[in-house]
Amino acid sequence: MTKELEIWWNEVSKGYQEDSDLHTKSALYGPFCPDEDKLKLLGNLKGKKILEVGCGGAQCSIAFAKKGAICTGLDISKNQLDYAEKIVKKNKVKVKLIKKDIQTLSGIKSNSFDIVFSAYALLYVPNLKKCFKEINRVLKTGGIFVFSHDSPFFLTLDAKTKKIVRSYLRTGKQEEIDFGPDGSKHKFVFYNRKLSEIYNSLVETGFFVKKILEPYYPKQKAWSRKSWREIYPPEFVKLMPPTIIFKAVKI
Ligand SMILES: C[S@@+](CC[C@H](N)C(=O)[O-])C[C@H]1O[C@@H](n2cnc3c(N)ncnc32)[C@H](O)[C@@H]1O
Repeated sequence: MTKELEIWWNEVSKGYQEDSDLHTKSALYGPFCPDEDKLKLLGNLKGKKILEVGCGGAQCSIAFAKKGAICTGLDISKNQLDYAEKIVKKNKVKVKLIKKDIQTLSGIKSNSFDIVFSAYALLYVPNLKKCFKEINRVLKTGGIFVFSHDSPFFLTLDAKTKKIVRSYLRTGKQEEIDFGPDGSKHKFVFYNRKLSEIYNSLVETGFFVKKILEPYYPKQKAWSRKSWREIYPPEFVKLMPPTIIFKAVKI
């Protein structure tokens, strides 16, 4: 199942990186969402060991490393990691990059990270509980797990027609045909989940949920090109923010 995702992310990586304009000054949580410098969910990062799962181009890990964190970025896509390697070098920071599936963090020591972070990557994970269990295992007790996710409410809507086109209740694997920023056609696989499923999966795998945020922030340069504006029309996201963030702690 994850093989399809690996192929898809390898195919779209170039277009995604070219079109998204992701900076490395502060970790970006997602479209129309304030960044970490504004939200301050992670606290002082100096000397903190951070694992970023589904790191893509590792822009967030680079931002953390610039603030003194010791970072590891993990992703399933070779093309995303190749891009990450290039920009890590360009930014003259250290980020250890690993090609791995988020669901099995084998080889990563238990109780070894202060923070696990993820931005917009868990939508693609078939088994969320398996993934949360592994994240819980590698975190130190009291360690923080912060991740952003496509809002399950936003996912039901079609941005063009502003109508509900996907059932909130039809959870599990979804397959759609999608077009990359360059117009190329790809099979897009993701996993629909209700908000309750995400919350309950955290609680059932040993986390205490400290906060759920659904912010709206219009002044953002990333994801502002035409192709993204079609997915996130500014007049529409004003009414329904596309990003949801969870802050949880390992108990
Ligand atoms: C929307 S991108 C987000 C990347 C980055 N966090 C950002 O904000 O640009 C989702 C990333 O998750 C990765 N991914 C998806 N499923 C994964 C899995 N099972 N294990 C590891 N990485 C995965 C993809 O390869 C892709 O780089």
